[in-house]
Amino acid sequence: MSARRLRTSLAVLFLGLLGVLEAPAISCRNEAGRAVDWFVFYKLPRRQGKDFGETGLEYLYLDSATRSWRRSERLVNSSRSALGRTLHQLHEAHTAKSNNTAYLMYNDGIPKSMNYSRNYGHTKGLLLWNRIQGFWLLHSIPGFPPVPEEGYEYPSTGRRNGQSGICVTFKYSQFEAIDSQLLVTNPNIYCCSIPATFHQELVHMPRLCARSSSSKSPARHLTTLQSAQGKNFLHFAKSDSFSDDIFAGWMAQQLKTHLLAETWQRKRQELPSNCSLPYHVYNIKAIKISRKSYFSSYQDHAKWCISQKGTKNRWTCIGDLNRSPHQALRSGGFICTQNQHIHQAFQRLVLYYEDCD
Ligand SMILES: *[C@@H]1O[C@H](CO)[C@@H](O)[C@H](O)[C@H]1NC(C)=O
Ligand SMILES: *[C@@H]1O[C@H](CO)[C@@H](O)[C@H](O)[C@H]1NC(C)=O
Ligand SMILES: *[C@@H]1O[C@H](CO)[C@@H](O)[C@H](O)[C@H]1NC(C)=O
Ligand SMILES: *[C@@H]1O[C@H](CO)[C@@H](O)[C@H](O)[C@H]1NC(C)=O
Repeated sequence: MSARRLRTSLAVLFLGLLGVLEAPAISCRNEAGRAVDWFVFYKLPRRQGKDFGETGLEYLYLDSATRSWRRSERLVNSSRSALGRTLHQLHEAHTAKSNNTAYLMYNDGIPKSMNYSRNYGHTKGLLLWNRIQGFWLLHSIPGFPPVPEEGYEYPSTGRRNGQSGICVTFKYSQFEAIDSQLLVTNPNIYCCSIPATFHQELVHMPRLCARSSSSKSPARHLTTLQSAQGKNFLHFAKSDSFSDDIFAGWMAQQLKTHLLAETWQRKRQELPSNCSLPYHVYNIKAIKISRKSYFSSYQDHAKWCISQKGTKNRWTCIGDLNRSPHQALRSGGFICTQNQHIHQAFQRLVLYYEDCD
């Protein structure tokens, strides 16, 4: 190679690198559109009341830069909500048809369909990443989000009940571990684009994306994930062959803490609070948002749990599965953190829980 050609190649390489470096980093985003390491949201149920949640579109919001719940300024159906701002990056990547950005959307209830798939995990979320970093959003909203062509919309299926979710920003180095977790949770992927440049490191996602039969998955797998800002998260992934209640059968015993669990409760489909094993699981029955505003777990499709007050391990987990006998037979997962602000925020919401008989 001549010196001149070498110089040109180096210049091209340099400009290419600059292009990657200059592109705004893919991140979870707040309502102002600014990058945050993580955020948690709690969409409130639709209720008759003067206080919170009249429309079923208000949400509580907490991120790495705030210390307690704030009521959202935007409604969740707005493209300027935290979900809207975060998803905007996926819409841009979709439009650009970029070769260096990948995404994947999954939901057991796919948008605009009244069908719920039982062949795949009871799991909902989306991922967007490039070779530098990306985010993973886990949520409980049926039929969300719409495919990128439709732009940002919030479905009516997510309006009546409460919904929860967490978004975490991860460096690309974490996506291999995420890839393995997804193999276990077996998501129903309805929209994805994973350019060939990723296929060597991320082996399962392209196969899940193509719905081709994948490698054998472990019955369950626990992994540690580090956020872009260096905060540790755990991810519990169970397959349908681990046929046990993930709360009592695994998470409480693994985290060594009694758990209070808030999940969607339906009459005659409930697992009672459970004190059989060393670490107990108690069902939360009602949530308080303010002194005057409450709702029951029958109106809450959210899925989360926290360490009982007074225990030394203060965990919060947010994820996919309800405490119901049927959900022991489904795959899904939870992301857990010991962040004290998240724990306090959820702790304050507990109005009462059911003791063991
Ligand atoms: C969101 O929902 C509210 C209440 O139904 C409605 O007034 C508003 O127009 C909706 N906003 C968008 C962007 O769809
Ligand atoms: C993306 O990669 C493919 C195959 O490597 C190539 O044919 C195509 O031109 C690339 N597209 C862009 C926008 O770079
Ligand atoms: C729902 O599932 C049924 C049976 O599998 C299928 O015929 C129908 O087209 C599906 N509906 C939608 C909206 O996907
Ligand atoms: C409590 O949970 C464990 C693990 O799921 C289960 O084996 C046990 O039967 C449960 N106990 C009761 C009383 O339901």
